[in-house]
Amino acid sequence: MQNKKVVILGAGGTIAGMASNTSGNALSNVQYTAGEVGVADLLEAIPVLRQSNLIETEQVAQVDSKDMSFTVWTALATRVQYHLARVDVAGVVITHGTDTLEETAYFLQAVLNPAKPVVLTCAMRPASALAPDGPQNLLDAVTVANHEGAHGVVVVCAGTIHSAADVQKIHTYQLNAFGSGDAGVIGFIEENTLKITRNWPVAREIQAQRATENIAILCRTHAWPVVEIVMSYAGASCAPVDALVAIGVRGLVVAGTGNGTVHKVLEAALMKAQAQGIEVVRATRCNQGRVLPRTDDRFASSNGLSPVKTRIALMLRLMGIGA
Ligand code: SIN
Repeated sequence: MQNKKVVILGAGGTIAGMASNTSGNALSNVQYTAGEVGVADLLEAIPVLRQSNLIETEQVAQVDSKDMSFTVWTALATRVQYHLARVDVAGVVITHGTDTLEETAYFLQAVLNPAKPVVLTCAMRPASALAPDGPQNLLDAVTVANHEGAHGVVVVCAGTIHSAADVQKIHTYQLNAFGSGDAGVIGFIEENTLKITRNWPVAREIQAQRATENIAILCRTHAWPVVEIVMSYAGASCAPVDALVAIGVRGLVVAGTGNGTVHKVLEAALMKAQAQGIEVVRATRCNQGRVLPRTDDRFASSNGLSPVKTRIALMLRLMGIGA
């Protein structure tokens, strides 16, 4: 534990969720409103953090993360970068909904590539639940943010630490809702102590300067490039791609079958789009493994990213933001 501060930024989610009597069950784990409790009030359930003068809180947003927006992402990147630049701050924690947690984590890692830890945490049960999981997750996240040697954007949930690149929500209601696929978790939080099992995300030397430039681009970009995801499946048609081309999409990610293969009808539509200058990247709809190259590849590869993260990488690249 370092004698430095940890700043907790609130962004909403189930961790800040409340069920009400009007929903018919004030202790419900599914019938509740996300993003109701302020981040400072989340500390009420964790006396060791509430009483500490090394904890600061700031409410950046208060959203159900299914409604996450580019505006909130820009605000989060800006506030994280601000606090990381402080010499008295060891790391930043973000309380966030689980539904798009992996997208925000990937976005922040790509934009900031931070030398200090940025720890996103969450809950699967609302703060009003009989046995909420948020307080332990938040305490664990602060432990990780305080850990000497920790760096990069990570996710902490149910006692495990995941990297932004690999983490994925894999369960709809269980408390241990995240996985890191073949890469495996970075480690575990065992009674306030970390057991590290693999490397932290790579921090590059130029990260602070590059992060400042990236945030400047985000702040002056009013309309992010439109990049959408289409999926390949039995009986796929050209209709989604043709409709998206008609609205002026800049990029398309195809969530292909297996090794990123694409139904021939959809492939023809994507080839046509690509010939018109639209960037097309192929990922896979499988949630394990990565797309491997073939000599007859028609589209760029997602380089191991899931379709939603591939979309973020492409949007950032189209904005000139270097990862
Ligand atoms: C959300 O993502 O904001 C709601 C769901 C959750 O946090 O588990």
